[in-house]
Amino acid sequence: MPRVLVSDKLAKEGIDILKQVAEVDVNTGLSEDELCKIIGDYDALVVRSGTTVTAKILEAAKNLKIIGRAGVGVDNVDVPVATEKGIIVVNSPGGNTIAAAELTVAMLLALTRNIPQAYCTMIKKEWNRSKYVGNEVYTKVLGILGLGKIGQEVAKRCQSFGMKVIAYDPFISAEAAASLGVELVELDECLKRGDYISLHLPKNKETLGMISTKQFEMMKDGVRIINCARGGIIDDSALIAALKSGKVAGAALDVFVSEPPDFSSELFSMPNVVTTPHLGASTEEAQTNVAIDVAEQIVDVFQGKSARSAVNMPALSPDVLAAVQPWLPLAERMASLAAQTSEGRPSQISIRYGGELAAIETGPISRAVVVGLLRPALGESVNSVNAPVMAKTRGLDVVESKSPEGGDYASLLTVSVTTDKGVNEVTGTLFGAKDMRVVRMRGFPMDLMPEGVVLIAPHTDKPGVIGQVGTIIGNAGINIASMHVGRKTAGENAIMVLNVDAEIPTEILQKITEVKGIDSVKQVRL
Ligand code: NAD
Ligand code: MLT
Repeated sequence: MPRVLVSDKLAKEGIDILKQVAEVDVNTGLSEDELCKIIGDYDALVVRSGTTVTAKILEAAKNLKIIGRAGVGVDNVDVPVATEKGIIVVNSPGGNTIAAAELTVAMLLALTRNIPQAYCTMIKKEWNRSKYVGNEVYTKVLGILGLGKIGQEVAKRCQSFGMKVIAYDPFISAEAAASLGVELVELDECLKRGDYISLHLPKNKETLGMISTKQFEMMKDGVRIINCARGGIIDDSALIAALKSGKVAGAALDVFVSEPPDFSSELFSMPNVVTTPHLGASTEEAQTNVAIDVAEQIVDVFQGKSARSAVNMPALSPDVLAAVQPWLPLAERMASLAAQTSEGRPSQISIRYGGELAAIETGPISRAVVVGLLRPALGESVNSVNAPVMAKTRGLDVVESKSPEGGDYASLLTVSVTTDKGVNEVTGTLFGAKDMRVVRMRGFPMDLMPEGVVLIAPHTDKPGVIGQVGTIIGNAGINIASMHVGRKTAGENAIMVLNVDAEIPTEILQKITEVKGIDSVKQVRL
């Protein structure tokens, strides 16, 4: 039974799903070293934002197949290293959207009406009506940075208050924004026009420190800032200076550079700063949603299916998945056959899709080809998650092309491996959903079932050669399951391909090589 480690608090609903197929250990609050010690025993790891999944932990995670991030942001997971190691990283992109949007709106109103500050005086039994005069948000301009899932939900809610919503997001079309009634603008304009600026961006190289002194200078005097996205997108010292100068009238922060934050920071003693301890996703509904979402994906991956929200693999719709799935074993085996029968150092792999196959989404098939090509050399360390990275780091170019022509077949897949010694090409097709065939190899017509042990012997097409090979194999007590000979012209070069029921020992292969007319002999395992 696979083993799952849950290293941050996870809703029971998610754990129950995992328990149906795996042994689940919940062990929270572990240090990096403690995690390193135990992670080797697990097939899956589930985290929220409390665990930082570092390269060191991934190095120790010898059996890990999947990391489930019960939430949106994967900035606490070293995704590039996980990808290199072939570990799928999944998240729950939509499970806490509403929770985070609702908290953002709560923060915006709390900031505008001084609710937390007023509450603090009330519990001291003080009655301060005049001190806490606020503003109305009605007709004010909200500038949203990052009009993604949460940004859009915040926009809708703030529009219902009569706010004018503008947004900066270079990756969303003006039409999509317009359909939400949001005016899409450039960053500077968004900063200049907003009475409120609310951040809904991912934390990455581009967004880290994106709001700093220069950006505060552009803003309106008395602007209010809300960050329920990630700490570090706003430069804290620049924010403190802008709050002190009065440029920023107030800030509401749910997220911090380190969590728990450094409470000695001035941010926690300023009267116009409202803070919460990363509560954006902290609703019962959101926690249940994200737990179920990642647990289901982990179960899917354990059962050999695709994860619907993998961040280091392209997402596939069920339709696409159904169309590509039957081709994956054939693609991998054809590439493996090409790799095991090539001479020299590979520099390029070209994948051609012909006929009906050219019309479907072929990305996963290309990944399977790369896996098949690299696996004879790299073993199980290569899989469909890390195959493109592995190919790139080995200087292997992957070139894809498509043509509606399938020749005599409805669909054709051709894999060509270019090495410093030449080009090796294998073409295959599927009959029905399962019947895999290699129909051409090195230019010779063929009818090979790519499975088990296969012997490949280019030779001169003349009487006696095939018979002698058959006799040698038979005398060695090995059964030949099928034999195909491909030739273009009688009496010239040909290729003999045999499916055999057991591996042929080296000395027998040597005997076959010595048969007059045999050019070379290669035994491959598919
Ligand atoms: P999302 O991916 O749906 O939206 C992010 C948007 O930002 C996208 O539309 C993207 O195009 C845009 N974007 C990316 N880079 C940008 C850039 N450089 N400039 C401008 N726009 C850019 O994500 P989401 O679910 O809306 O989450 C938004 C943020 O909120 C994430 O950082 C997430 O981790 C965080 N979050 C926080 C909490 C919380 O508890 N406080 C809860 C959920 C999500
Ligand atoms: C998220 O990215 O999903 C939120 O920050 C919530 C969380 O970390 O759990």
